[in-house]
Parts: sequence; C-alpha cells; structure tokens
Amino acid sequence: MVTLPTTFTWGAATAAFQIEGDRAGRGETTWDAFCRVPGAVQDGTDGDVTCDHVNRYREDVRIMRDLGVGAYRFSVAWARVQPTGRGDFSAEGLGFYDRLVDELLGAGIEPWLTLYHWDLPVELQLQGGWASRRVVDPFVEYALGVQEALGDRVKRWATHNEPWCAAWLGYGGGIHAPGIRDHALATRATHHLLLSHGRAVAAMREQDADAAYGIVLNLDNVRATDDEAVTRAALPAYDAVRNRVWLDALAGRGYPADALDLLAPHLDGATVVGDMEQIATPVDFLGLNYYNDERLEAADGQVPVGDTVQPGMERVRTADPGAGATAMDWPVTPEGFTDVLRRLQAEYAELGPVYVTENGSAWDDDPTPSADGVIEDPDRVAYLQDHLRALEQARAEGVDVRGYFAWSLLDNFEWALGLSKRFGLVRVDFETQERTVKRSWHAYREHIAASGTARAAEPEAAAGA
Ligand code: FCB
Repeated sequence: MVTLPTTFTWGAATAAFQIEGDRAGRGETTWDAFCRVPGAVQDGTDGDVTCDHVNRYREDVRIMRDLGVGAYRFSVAWARVQPTGRGDFSAEGLGFYDRLVDELLGAGIEPWLTLYHWDLPVELQLQGGWASRRVVDPFVEYALGVQEALGDRVKRWATHNEPWCAAWLGYGGGIHAPGIRDHALATRATHHLLLSHGRAVAAMREQDADAAYGIVLNLDNVRATDDEAVTRAALPAYDAVRNRVWLDALAGRGYPADALDLLAPHLDGATVVGDMEQIATPVDFLGLNYYNDERLEAADGQVPVGDTVQPGMERVRTADPGAGATAMDWPVTPEGFTDVLRRLQAEYAELGPVYVTENGSAWDDDPTPSADGVIEDPDRVAYLQDHLRALEQARAEGVDVRGYFAWSLLDNFEWALGLSKRFGLVRVDFETQERTVKRSWHAYREHIAASGTARAAEPEAAAGA
C-alpha cells in the first residue's frame, strides 16, 4: 500500500469529448468532423454518446464519492458553453457544468477544471484553428466567461491539456483532429496554444486572484534502445519539441535553441514582441500527464522531412515495446515516471508544485465480473501500484508533487482509437451504459483510504505558495 500525507490530493480525471455525449446539446467541434473522416477513428465510433455523462453525472459523482477521491479533473466542452466559439454563452451549456460542480461539492469533491481538452469549435478551425493567431482572443474570452459562471466555486484552473498533442498530433502527424500534416502549422499551433494559455491565466487571475492557475503537459523521457548514431542524435531533438519547448517557454527562458534549429523557419512572422513574456505569466502549479517513456531505435530508411509527427525524427522510429506492453502498445516504465518528476524538481521548480493530472493504462479487460461483481483487471492494478510507488519514491527524494489523478474514472472514447481502448477504473458497457467497478477501482480506493484525505485543500494561490 502506498500511503501519502493527508494533504495529498487524490483524484480521478476525464475529458468532455471522451465521456459527455449529448451531441445535440453543443456546437460542432473539430473532433466531430474528424470522426466522420473514413478511417480516422479506428473502430469508426464518435463522440455523440460515449458515456452519456451529461445525463448520468449524478451516478458518476456517486462512484467517485464511494471511491474516496477528494478531487475530480474534468474539462469543459467549449462548444457546449459557446457553440461557435465566440459570442453569447449558452445558459443551458453552462447549466450542465453548474449542476456538475454543485454535485461534486455536495459529495466533498473539489472540481479541477480544464478549459481545453482538444475539442475546438469548428467555426474557429475554419479560421485556421490553433495555427492562426485569431484563436487567441476567443480562447481568453471563453476562459473568462466560464470563470464568470463557475469561479465562485471552482478554484483550480488548467488552461490546456497536453498542448503537444493538440499541436503535433493534430497539425503535424494528422493523427488527431483537425487531421493536418504540416510542420509549419504545428509550430504555429505550439506558439498560439502557449500564448493563449499565458493570456488566459493573466486575465483570469485579474478576475479571481485567489484561485490557482496552471497548464497540463505530457512529458516523458526519451531513450535509445540501440547504439546507432542516428538514434542518439535524435534524442535531444525529441526532448526539445516534446518537453523543453513548453517547459522553457513557460519558465520564461524562451524557446530552447535546439528546438529553434528545427522550428524557427516555421515561426517566421508568428511571434510578436511581448509574446514570450505573456507565455511566461507565472503559474501556480504544473499538471503532469505521464504514461510511459519513449524508446527510439534506428529506422531502416529515411522518412522525408515533414512526414514525421514532429521534426528531427526522420531516421528513427518507436521501438517495439516488447512483452508486458499495454493495449495501447505502450511499454510500462514506472522508473521513467520518477525520472520525469525528479527532472521537474531539478530543472523547472519555478513552475510550481506538480500535480500528476493523468496516469493510467488500457488493457483488454475480461468483461465477465467475478463472483463479487467486480471486473478483474490485474494488469491495471499492477500498473497503478507501480506508478504510485514511483511517485512515492520521487516524494521521498524531495520532489514537490502534491496530487495524483487516475486516468480514467470511466472507460471512454480514446480519440483515434475510439471506444476500443479501455482506461477506466470503472467499466462502461457502451450499449446499456451500465457502470461496473473493476478491481483497480478497489485497489485505488484502498490506497486513498490508507492515506486519508483532507478534502479540498487550499489552492496554492490562496495559500500564498
Ligand atoms: C492523454 C489524454 C487523455 C487520454 C489519455 C490516454 O494523452 O490527455 O485524454 O486519451 O492520453
């Protein structure tokens, strides 16, 4: 059992497009359009119903209350509260989040709100999406509107979820919406995501100085599995675009030189004097999503420049994950989790305390429950245990990591892989919407109970940390 102090935040995480459903209650997003592209989503599913959470949130909050979490990280669907991404806010759309927040607080669970988890209103995509600077003002307007409606009760705000994915999977590799493959546009998206983050934090802080503001990054280690010169040469480039470009810019150090070697030509004209200062608006916490390390090996040939997900990867590929990989084909690397936490403490402590805002694993669960009605998911239980130990190790070494949110509360829509990949602590039958807890739900509950929770700890900003 991993036991942590009662001030540690234990949570569960989800995202709007992945669980909400109620397609009729919101505007069209880039992900709706992407789901209609033949072959874009592996199993042909979409976000129309998923977990039907908009209609079942009370049950889902009850499941969390029974789990014992003190915090719930969810995202707001921009197109639900502002159907075209601009202009009037929808009272009905905001009403859903209003009820959800009240339900959470009533269950003793603190709401942690993420503003953008990849579902851009399609009208904004028609103007260029994140590749265009025109998206920045609407994002700030959206952030302020949501805060005006919920800020009396929501005190933990994250601007973006995994902007690397939004930029490089969305505009670089074309694997996510909007399905564009253009390194220049992905680079511009990188800059505009960061700029919109800094501007939104500054504006929201003016509205509420007592709340805590942050951003959620997916960071990992990159390692070579062979001794080839091309693999070794790719490691810094990978780290630069995946990790340091975000961390350095947020920490006020500008874009790292080796990232600029790859990206500068694409940034031409995109950066304006003063942007980097705005991007470096201080944050109160850093959200870390960690799943696994990246392992590279030399590829057989060379991919043309521009054809990789991110630049600098033309002569390498992801190595075979080997035995024990998850259903995503991701290797299980808990030691890398400790390493990333150590690195944040050693190199980026100014970004504030770290909260692990996502960590979890997908497995092909056997849907038949055992005699006590629980779905047996031993691999997920082991993954959870190993990663909590890795986190405990980092804390023991002095890393200021203050919370952990399991991904995910529910099986849900796993982006380009659709409903086929299950990350939930709770199984969802997508035909009947029945929820069944898995053994990992019980395991997580025991860790939380052993630690004890002081629910709703004071936000950093209010605490003056
Ligand atoms: C992260 C996403 C999250 C989920 C997990 C598995 O990249 O933030 O929405 O899909 O991966």
